[in-house]
Amino acid sequence: MTIRVGIVGATGYAGEALLDILLRHPSAAVTGVYSRNENPRPFAEIFPRFKGRTGIICSRLDVKKIAEDTDVVFLSLPHTVSMELVPYLMKAGKKVIDLSADYRLHDLAVYQRFYNVKHTDARNVKQAVYGLPELYRAKIKTAGLIANPGCYPTAAILALFPLLALGVAEHSPLIIDAKSGVSGAGKKLTEEMMFSEVYDDFKAYKVNVHQHAPEINQELTRVSGKKTGVIFVPHLLPLARGILETIYLRSLPGQKRSTGSLVSLYKKFYKTEPFVRIKDAGSFPRLKETAGTNFCDIGIQADGADIIVISAIDNLIKGAAGQAVQNFNIMYGFPETTALL
Ligand SMILES: NC(=O)c1ccc[n+]([C@@H]2O[C@H](COP(=O)([O-])OP(=O)(O)OC[C@H]3O[C@@H](n4cnc5c(N)ncnc54)[C@H](OP(=O)(O)O)[C@@H]3O)[C@@H](O)[C@H]2O)c1
Repeated sequence: MTIRVGIVGATGYAGEALLDILLRHPSAAVTGVYSRNENPRPFAEIFPRFKGRTGIICSRLDVKKIAEDTDVVFLSLPHTVSMELVPYLMKAGKKVIDLSADYRLHDLAVYQRFYNVKHTDARNVKQAVYGLPELYRAKIKTAGLIANPGCYPTAAILALFPLLALGVAEHSPLIIDAKSGVSGAGKKLTEEMMFSEVYDDFKAYKVNVHQHAPEINQELTRVSGKKTGVIFVPHLLPLARGILETIYLRSLPGQKRSTGSLVSLYKKFYKTEPFVRIKDAGSFPRLKETAGTNFCDIGIQADGADIIVISAIDNLIKGAAGQAVQNFNIMYGFPETTALL
Protein backbone atom coordinates (compact mmCIF):
# COMPACT_ATOMS: atom_id res chain seq x y z
CA MET A 1 0.00 0.00 0.00
CA THR A 2 1.35 3.44 -0.92
CA ILE A 3 -0.11 6.52 0.71
CA ARG A 4 -0.09 9.88 -1.07
CA VAL A 5 1.40 12.40 1.30
CA GLY A 6 1.42 16.20 1.26
CA ILE A 7 3.56 18.59 3.32
CA VAL A 8 2.22 22.10 3.79
CA GLY A 9 4.81 24.56 5.09
CA ALA A 10 7.55 22.44 3.55
CA THR A 11 10.02 25.32 3.39
CA GLY A 12 10.10 25.65 7.19
CA TYR A 13 12.44 23.78 9.52
CA ALA A 14 9.97 21.07 10.49
CA GLY A 15 8.57 20.79 6.94
CA GLU A 16 12.03 20.25 5.48
CA ALA A 17 12.75 17.59 8.14
CA LEU A 18 9.43 15.91 7.23
CA LEU A 19 10.36 15.69 3.57
CA ASP A 20 13.78 14.29 4.46
CA ILE A 21 12.16 11.47 6.49
CA LEU A 22 9.21 10.79 4.17
CA LEU A 23 11.46 10.42 1.10
CA ARG A 24 12.98 7.41 2.92
CA HIS A 25 9.56 5.90 3.69
CA PRO A 26 8.83 2.83 1.54
CA SER A 27 5.03 3.24 1.77
CA ALA A 28 4.73 7.01 1.38
CA ALA A 29 4.74 8.81 -1.94
CA VAL A 30 5.23 12.54 -1.40
CA THR A 31 2.82 13.91 -3.99
CA GLY A 32 2.74 17.53 -2.93
CA VAL A 33 4.85 20.08 -1.06
CA TYR A 34 3.51 23.57 -0.54
CA SER A 35 4.43 26.99 0.80
CA ARG A 36 3.27 30.58 0.33
CA ASN A 37 5.76 30.87 -2.52
CA GLU A 38 3.87 32.43 -5.46
CA ASN A 39 6.00 30.76 -8.13
CA PRO A 40 6.20 26.97 -8.20
CA ARG A 41 9.86 25.88 -8.02
CA PRO A 42 11.64 22.53 -7.74
CA PHE A 43 12.13 21.89 -4.05
CA ALA A 44 15.74 20.89 -4.72
CA GLU A 45 16.33 24.35 -6.15
CA ILE A 46 15.21 25.93 -2.87
CA PHE A 47 17.13 23.34 -0.82
CA PRO A 48 20.04 22.00 -2.90
CA ARG A 49 20.68 19.20 -0.41
CA PHE A 50 17.65 17.45 -1.95
CA LYS A 51 19.24 17.41 -5.45
CA GLY A 52 19.31 13.86 -6.75
CA ARG A 53 16.71 12.75 -4.18
CA THR A 54 13.52 14.35 -5.48
CA GLY A 55 12.29 16.35 -8.43
CA ILE A 56 9.14 17.46 -6.62
CA ILE A 57 7.89 20.98 -7.23
CA CYS A 58 7.12 23.24 -4.29
CA SER A 59 3.67 24.56 -5.18
CA ARG A 60 1.69 27.51 -3.95
CA LEU A 61 -0.56 26.65 -1.03
CA ASP A 62 -4.00 25.90 -2.51
CA VAL A 63 -6.26 23.86 -0.30
CA LYS A 64 -8.31 22.36 -3.18
CA LYS A 65 -5.16 21.17 -4.93
CA ILE A 66 -3.80 19.74 -1.68
CA ALA A 67 -7.01 17.73 -1.23
CA GLU A 68 -6.80 16.44 -4.83
CA ASP A 69 -3.12 15.51 -4.63
CA THR A 70 -2.98 13.71 -1.29
CA ASP A 71 -4.50 11.17 1.12
CA VAL A 72 -2.83 12.51 4.25
CA VAL A 73 -1.62 16.03 4.89
CA PHE A 74 1.14 17.11 7.26
CA LEU A 75 0.53 20.72 8.23
CA SER A 76 3.80 22.32 9.29
CA LEU A 77 2.43 25.83 9.53
CA PRO A 78 2.34 28.56 12.15
CA HIS A 79 -0.55 28.30 14.61
CA THR A 80 -3.79 29.96 13.40
CA VAL A 81 -2.93 29.09 9.78
CA SER A 82 -3.59 25.40 10.43
CA MET A 83 -7.09 25.98 11.75
CA GLU A 84 -7.96 27.81 8.54
CA LEU A 85 -7.15 24.69 6.46
CA VAL A 86 -8.18 21.80 8.71
CA PRO A 87 -11.99 22.18 8.37
CA TYR A 88 -11.74 21.98 4.57
CA LEU A 89 -9.31 19.05 4.57
CA MET A 90 -11.36 17.08 7.10
CA LYS A 91 -14.52 17.67 5.07
CA ALA A 92 -12.69 16.41 2.00
CA GLY A 93 -12.01 13.17 3.90
CA LYS A 94 -8.27 13.70 4.32
CA LYS A 95 -6.31 12.56 7.33
CA VAL A 96 -4.40 15.44 8.88
CA ILE A 97 -1.32 15.52 11.09
CA ASP A 98 -0.99 19.07 12.36
CA LEU A 99 2.35 20.13 13.83
CA SER A 100 1.05 23.47 15.09
CA ALA A 101 -0.55 24.14 18.46
CA ASP A 102 -4.03 24.71 17.03
CA TYR A 103 -5.57 21.37 18.05
CA ARG A 104 -3.55 20.52 21.16
CA LEU A 105 -5.41 22.40 23.88
CA HIS A 106 -8.93 21.28 24.79
CA ASP A 107 -9.80 24.44 26.67
CA LEU A 108 -10.22 27.12 24.03
CA ALA A 109 -10.10 29.92 26.60
CA VAL A 110 -6.62 28.72 27.54
CA TYR A 111 -5.70 28.61 23.83
CA GLN A 112 -6.89 32.18 23.43
CA ARG A 113 -4.95 33.36 26.49
CA PHE A 114 -1.65 31.77 25.47
CA TYR A 115 -1.82 32.25 21.68
CA ASN A 116 -3.57 35.65 21.71
CA VAL A 117 -6.19 34.64 19.18
CA LYS A 118 -9.72 33.26 19.25
CA HIS A 119 -10.02 29.65 18.09
CA THR A 120 -12.24 29.25 15.03
CA ASP A 121 -12.60 25.46 14.75
CA ALA A 122 -13.90 24.12 18.07
CA ARG A 123 -15.57 21.19 16.31
CA ASN A 124 -12.35 19.62 15.15
CA VAL A 125 -10.56 20.30 18.45
CA LYS A 126 -13.00 17.82 19.99
CA GLN A 127 -12.03 15.01 17.67
CA ALA A 128 -8.27 15.69 17.51
CA VAL A 129 -6.03 13.11 19.18
CA TYR A 130 -2.91 14.33 20.98
CA GLY A 131 -0.19 12.60 19.00
CA LEU A 132 2.17 11.35 21.67
CA PRO A 133 2.36 7.63 20.81
CA GLU A 134 3.68 6.58 24.22
CA LEU A 135 0.41 7.86 25.77
CA TYR A 136 -2.24 7.52 23.09
CA ARG A 137 -1.18 4.81 20.61
CA ALA A 138 -4.61 3.13 20.57
CA LYS A 139 -6.45 6.39 19.82
CA ILE A 140 -3.91 7.45 17.19
CA LYS A 141 -4.63 4.24 15.23
CA THR A 142 -8.14 5.38 14.36
CA ALA A 143 -7.68 9.17 14.42
CA GLY A 144 -8.57 11.44 11.51
CA LEU A 145 -6.81 14.46 12.98
CA ILE A 146 -3.60 14.36 14.99
CA ALA A 147 -2.45 17.26 17.14
CA ASN A 148 1.28 16.60 17.05
CA PRO A 149 2.75 17.63 20.42
CA GLY A 150 4.97 20.59 21.07
CA CYS A 151 8.72 20.02 21.37
CA TYR A 152 9.14 21.06 25.02
CA PRO A 153 6.00 19.11 26.05
CA THR A 154 7.27 15.93 24.35
CA ALA A 155 10.46 15.93 26.44
CA ALA A 156 8.66 16.93 29.65
CA ILE A 157 5.71 14.55 29.41
CA LEU A 158 7.85 11.52 28.54
CA ALA A 159 10.15 12.36 31.46
CA LEU A 160 7.30 12.63 33.98
CA PHE A 161 4.75 10.14 32.67
CA PRO A 162 5.99 7.05 34.61
CA LEU A 163 6.25 8.83 37.97
CA LEU A 164 2.82 10.43 37.73
CA ALA A 165 0.96 7.56 36.08
CA LEU A 166 2.25 5.15 38.74
CA GLY A 167 1.59 7.60 41.57
CA VAL A 168 5.21 7.71 42.74
CA ALA A 169 5.67 11.47 43.00
CA GLU A 170 3.92 14.67 44.05
CA HIS A 171 1.88 16.30 41.26
CA SER A 172 2.95 19.79 42.20
CA PRO A 173 5.28 21.54 41.87
CA LEU A 174 6.90 20.01 38.78
CA ILE A 175 9.82 22.34 38.15
CA ILE A 176 10.93 22.17 34.52
CA ASP A 177 14.18 23.91 33.62
CA ALA A 178 14.21 23.64 29.82
CA LYS A 179 16.76 24.61 27.16
CA SER A 180 16.29 24.70 23.41
CA GLY A 181 18.33 25.51 20.33
CA VAL A 182 17.10 28.35 18.11
CA SER A 183 15.38 26.22 15.44
CA GLY A 184 12.64 25.65 18.03
CA ALA A 185 11.35 29.12 17.17
CA GLY A 186 11.05 28.42 13.43
CA LYS A 187 12.57 30.36 10.55
CA LYS A 188 11.00 33.76 10.96
CA LEU A 189 13.47 36.61 11.10
CA THR A 190 13.62 38.40 14.41
CA GLU A 191 16.42 40.40 15.96
CA GLU A 192 16.64 38.18 19.03
CA MET A 193 17.21 35.09 16.86
CA MET A 194 20.08 36.62 14.87
CA PHE A 195 23.42 34.81 15.10
CA SER A 196 25.12 37.84 16.65
CA GLU A 197 22.48 37.98 19.40
CA VAL A 198 22.32 34.27 20.20
CA TYR A 199 25.96 33.26 19.77
CA ASP A 200 28.06 33.23 22.94
CA ASP A 201 25.03 33.98 25.11
CA PHE A 202 22.47 32.08 27.20
CA LYS A 203 19.22 33.41 28.59
CA ALA A 204 15.81 32.55 29.97
CA TYR A 205 12.68 33.75 28.16
CA LYS A 206 8.89 33.65 28.73
CA VAL A 207 9.66 32.76 32.35
CA ASN A 208 6.70 30.71 33.61
CA VAL A 209 4.39 32.25 30.96
CA HIS A 210 5.36 30.03 28.00
CA GLN A 211 2.49 28.56 25.94
CA HIS A 212 3.79 25.00 26.40
CA ALA A 213 3.11 25.01 30.18
CA PRO A 214 -0.68 24.53 29.82
CA GLU A 215 -0.09 21.76 27.26
CA ILE A 216 2.18 19.89 29.68
CA ASN A 217 -0.31 20.35 32.53
CA GLN A 218 -3.22 19.21 30.37
CA GLU A 219 -1.59 15.92 29.39
CA LEU A 220 0.00 15.09 32.75
CA THR A 221 -3.30 15.82 34.50
CA ARG A 222 -5.07 13.48 32.06
CA VAL A 223 -2.70 10.56 32.52
CA SER A 224 -2.42 10.89 36.27
CA GLY A 225 -6.01 11.86 37.12
CA LYS A 226 -4.76 14.66 39.40
CA LYS A 227 -4.20 18.34 38.61
CA THR A 228 -0.52 18.95 38.03
CA GLY A 229 1.35 22.17 38.78
CA VAL A 230 4.09 22.88 36.27
CA ILE A 231 6.62 25.66 36.80
CA PHE A 232 8.21 26.00 33.37
CA VAL A 233 11.24 28.11 32.51
CA PRO A 234 12.61 27.83 28.96
CA HIS A 235 16.09 29.00 27.96
CA LEU A 236 17.65 29.71 24.59
CA LEU A 237 20.83 27.78 23.80
CA PRO A 238 23.31 29.15 21.26
CA LEU A 239 22.82 25.99 19.17
CA ALA A 240 20.75 25.19 16.08
CA ARG A 241 18.79 22.26 17.48
CA GLY A 242 18.16 20.10 20.53
CA ILE A 243 16.15 20.29 23.75
CA LEU A 244 17.36 19.30 27.20
CA GLU A 245 15.11 19.53 30.25
CA THR A 246 16.09 19.13 33.89
CA ILE A 247 13.01 18.43 35.98
CA TYR A 248 12.77 18.57 39.76
CA LEU A 249 10.03 16.92 41.82
CA ARG A 250 9.41 15.17 45.14
CA SER A 251 8.45 11.63 46.09
CA LEU A 252 5.12 11.18 47.85
CA PRO A 253 5.49 11.57 51.64
CA GLY A 254 7.04 8.49 53.21
CA GLN A 255 8.14 7.06 49.84
CA LYS A 256 11.87 7.70 49.55
CA ARG A 257 13.36 6.35 46.34
CA SER A 258 16.83 5.35 45.21
CA THR A 259 18.28 6.12 41.79
CA GLY A 260 18.58 2.40 41.04
CA SER A 261 14.94 1.66 41.86
CA LEU A 262 13.67 4.52 39.67
CA VAL A 263 15.95 3.62 36.76
CA SER A 264 14.53 0.06 36.95
CA LEU A 265 10.98 1.45 37.15
CA TYR A 266 11.53 3.60 34.01
CA LYS A 267 13.18 0.77 32.08
CA LYS A 268 10.26 -1.53 32.83
CA PHE A 269 7.67 1.16 32.09
CA TYR A 270 9.14 2.01 28.67
CA LYS A 271 10.36 -1.53 27.84
CA THR A 272 8.31 -1.82 24.65
CA GLU A 273 8.71 1.77 23.46
CA PRO A 274 10.92 1.97 20.37
CA PHE A 275 11.88 5.62 20.83
CA VAL A 276 12.43 6.07 24.58
CA ARG A 277 15.87 5.18 25.92
CA ILE A 278 16.56 5.11 29.64
CA LYS A 279 20.10 5.82 30.78
CA ASP A 280 21.79 3.57 33.33
CA ALA A 281 22.15 4.98 36.87
CA GLY A 282 24.74 7.77 36.99
CA SER A 283 24.52 8.48 33.26
CA PHE A 284 22.53 11.37 31.78
CA PRO A 285 21.28 12.43 28.32
CA ARG A 286 23.34 14.58 25.98
CA LEU A 287 22.02 16.56 23.06
CA LYS A 288 24.61 15.04 20.76
CA GLU A 289 23.24 11.55 21.39
CA THR A 290 19.72 12.47 20.27
CA ALA A 291 20.56 14.93 17.46
CA GLY A 292 19.08 13.78 14.16
CA THR A 293 17.18 10.90 15.82
CA ASN A 294 13.61 10.22 16.92
CA PHE A 295 14.76 9.14 20.38
CA CYS A 296 13.94 10.69 23.72
CA ASP A 297 16.73 9.91 26.18
CA ILE A 298 15.95 10.02 29.90
CA GLY A 299 18.23 9.93 32.94
CA ILE A 300 17.09 9.76 36.59
CA GLN A 301 18.71 10.66 39.91
CA ALA A 302 16.99 10.25 43.29
CA ASP A 303 18.18 11.17 46.72
CA GLY A 304 15.64 10.47 49.46
CA ALA A 305 12.56 12.50 48.59
CA ASP A 306 14.23 14.54 45.83
CA ILE A 307 13.89 13.25 42.28
CA ILE A 308 15.59 14.73 39.24
CA VAL A 309 14.70 13.60 35.74
CA ILE A 310 16.66 14.79 32.70
CA SER A 311 15.38 14.31 29.17
CA ALA A 312 16.75 15.19 25.74
CA ILE A 313 15.30 15.15 22.24
CA ASP A 314 15.97 16.66 18.83
CA ASN A 315 13.23 19.31 18.68
CA LEU A 316 12.84 18.90 14.91
CA ILE A 317 12.63 15.08 14.99
CA LYS A 318 11.03 13.58 18.14
CA GLY A 319 9.83 17.11 18.90
CA ALA A 320 8.18 17.59 15.48
CA ALA A 321 8.74 15.77 12.14
CA GLY A 322 9.88 12.36 13.44
CA GLN A 323 6.99 12.16 15.88
CA ALA A 324 4.60 13.15 13.09
CA VAL A 325 5.87 10.27 10.94
CA GLN A 326 5.66 7.92 13.95
CA ASN A 327 1.97 8.93 14.16
CA PHE A 328 1.55 8.40 10.41
CA ASN A 329 3.00 4.88 10.77
CA ILE A 330 0.57 4.08 13.59
CA MET A 331 -2.44 5.49 11.69
CA TYR A 332 -1.73 3.36 8.63
CA GLY A 333 -0.57 0.21 10.44
CA PHE A 334 3.04 0.43 9.22
CA PRO A 335 5.80 -0.72 11.58
CA GLU A 336 6.18 2.25 13.92
CA THR A 337 9.89 2.70 13.29
CA THR A 338 9.58 2.83 9.48
CA ALA A 339 11.85 5.57 8.07
CA LEU A 340 12.79 6.60 11.61
CA LEU A 341 15.69 4.34 12.54
N1 LIG B 1 10.68 24.16 15.09
C1 LIG B 1 10.39 23.26 16.01
O1 LIG B 1 11.27 22.76 16.73
C2 LIG B 1 8.96 22.80 16.19
C3 LIG B 1 8.71 21.75 17.07
C4 LIG B 1 7.39 21.32 17.26
C5 LIG B 1 6.36 21.96 16.58
N2 LIG B 1 6.63 23.00 15.76
C6 LIG B 1 5.52 23.64 15.08
O2 LIG B 1 5.54 23.25 13.71
C7 LIG B 1 5.07 24.33 12.90
C8 LIG B 1 6.17 24.67 11.89
O3 LIG B 1 7.32 25.05 12.61
P1 LIG B 1 8.68 25.47 11.92
O4 LIG B 1 9.67 25.61 13.01
O5 LIG B 1 8.97 24.57 10.78
O6 LIG B 1 8.30 26.92 11.37
P2 LIG B 1 8.98 27.74 10.20
O7 LIG B 1 10.38 27.31 10.03
O8 LIG B 1 8.72 29.18 10.50
O9 LIG B 1 8.14 27.32 8.90
C9 LIG B 1 6.80 27.68 8.72
C10 LIG B 1 6.30 27.25 7.36
O10 LIG B 1 4.98 27.75 7.19
C11 LIG B 1 4.92 28.61 6.05
N3 LIG B 1 4.14 29.80 6.44
C12 LIG B 1 4.50 30.78 7.27
N4 LIG B 1 3.48 31.66 7.44
C13 LIG B 1 2.47 31.21 6.68
C14 LIG B 1 1.18 31.69 6.41
N5 LIG B 1 0.69 32.79 6.98
N6 LIG B 1 0.42 30.98 5.58
C15 LIG B 1 0.87 29.88 4.99
N7 LIG B 1 2.10 29.39 5.18
C16 LIG B 1 2.90 30.04 6.04
C17 LIG B 1 6.35 28.98 5.71
O11 LIG B 1 6.45 29.02 4.33
P3 LIG B 1 6.88 30.28 3.49
O12 LIG B 1 7.36 31.33 4.45
O13 LIG B 1 7.95 29.75 2.56
O14 LIG B 1 5.65 30.60 2.79
C18 LIG B 1 7.11 27.75 6.20
O15 LIG B 1 7.12 26.77 5.20
C19 LIG B 1 4.76 25.49 13.85
O16 LIG B 1 3.40 25.50 14.17
C20 LIG B 1 5.59 25.16 15.08
O17 LIG B 1 5.05 25.70 16.27
C21 LIG B 1 7.92 23.42 15.51
